[in-house]
Amino acid sequence: MAAVLTTTLLLLSHGISATTNDHSERAHGFCKQLDIPVSATSDSAIYDIPRVNNDIDAISWAIWSDTWSRVKGPQTVVKNTTTSGTFNIHAQLCVPKASDQKKNILQIATHGVHYDSRYWDPELNREEQSYVEASLRAGYSILTYDRLGVGQSDIPDAYEVVQAPLELEILRQLTLMARNGDLYNFAAKANPATAAFDKIEKPSKLVHVGHSFGSFLTSAFIAKHSSLSDGAIITGFLLTEYLGKPGMSSFNAEYAAPSFDRPSGYIVCQKSGIQTIFFAGDPNTAFTKEMLDYGDKIKQPVPIGEFASAYHIIGLTGPDFAGPIQYMLPEFDFYICYGDCKGIYDIEHLEKTYPKAAGKIEVAIQPNTGHAFTLHNNATAGYQVTFDFLAKHGL
Ligand SMILES: *[C@@H]1O[C@H](CO)[C@@H](O)[C@H](O)[C@H]1NC(C)=O
Ligand SMILES: *[C@@H]1O[C@H](CO)[C@@H](O)[C@H](O)[C@H]1NC(C)=O
Repeated sequence: MAAVLTTTLLLLSHGISATTNDHSERAHGFCKQLDIPVSATSDSAIYDIPRVNNDIDAISWAIWSDTWSRVKGPQTVVKNTTTSGTFNIHAQLCVPKASDQKKNILQIATHGVHYDSRYWDPELNREEQSYVEASLRAGYSILTYDRLGVGQSDIPDAYEVVQAPLELEILRQLTLMARNGDLYNFAAKANPATAAFDKIEKPSKLVHVGHSFGSFLTSAFIAKHSSLSDGAIITGFLLTEYLGKPGMSSFNAEYAAPSFDRPSGYIVCQKSGIQTIFFAGDPNTAFTKEMLDYGDKIKQPVPIGEFASAYHIIGLTGPDFAGPIQYMLPEFDFYICYGDCKGIYDIEHLEKTYPKAAGKIEVAIQPNTGHAFTLHNNATAGYQVTFDFLAKHGL
């Protein structure tokens, strides 16, 4: 801190604007790293699932999960429990430089499995790839966070703590903090001091954005907590017969502990698994080798209890949600659409899922792109399709 101050003073004394030393400054906004204590209580369970303590266990677990005759969902519950705690959730809040009305709209983006919040904000060619940067350019504020068990957030027990209902509750708590102004107050006080965060009004509208497992959560969130969201962008997720068809074995998982600071039950994709799940389209034009390398570099382990509990957040109907919903699907998403998202969606079915949103639901297909939308060429053009959709609906 003292060093930062000294540098700032030096810069000032040389007549250079203090902002040149502001690490939070981006091309189109300002970002702050936050460690937010989030208190949450939710239903949980002890599931009948294998233990993963080495690489052989990791592949065995995947085959065990994919075996067609294995019982899944509620039947795997051995005991119902409750989980309660205060968890450190690492987040990044960014606010745009432009001061149009969109500044009062906050997007809350939830990443999927195998990644952390950097998925939304790749450092690799940010101007072209980062959804955060694109949002700032379009005038939105945006909160990204590492889900529980991922990145710089708390890393609790993989079997009994990191489960879907608790993660949904954490998203609800973050949303409540954003709505009542606590989030922006917290950001204003967090170091380093950045003038851009000092006098921002709390957001008047919230848009929830998800990718993959983060879209499971976002879909469940608007279904269960309809009044807390004004619009949703669901990327890399659609509930069809093809969802998850490639199976857990497509991850080419190994035990996370040798390469990451993780306990029992955390698995991580090998690079081949990262390509299988996340990269698709014409290999000459859809993505570059650098994007695949980067996608492998920022991968994150996954706690297996998250998969066992995922059924809680899939397929919920939202009779009360009345905001606009855009499904943004990569054309060649392998994990979600078994390689081709075109023609497998049914607007009528989506309107039955969210009846009050009928007429405000759109499915968009991003050409020549795989599941990791942000790490493919032409991502920026896809983001614009989303921003145009939001603008059309007053967001
Ligand atoms: C757990 O709770 C669910 C929902 O309340 C119930 O249907 C199920 O029977 C319970 N399972 C056990 C093992 O107690
Ligand atoms: C890039 O994305 C936009 C928006 O989805 C699309 O209209 C355009 O055809 C894409 N370009 C290519 C070369 O795929």
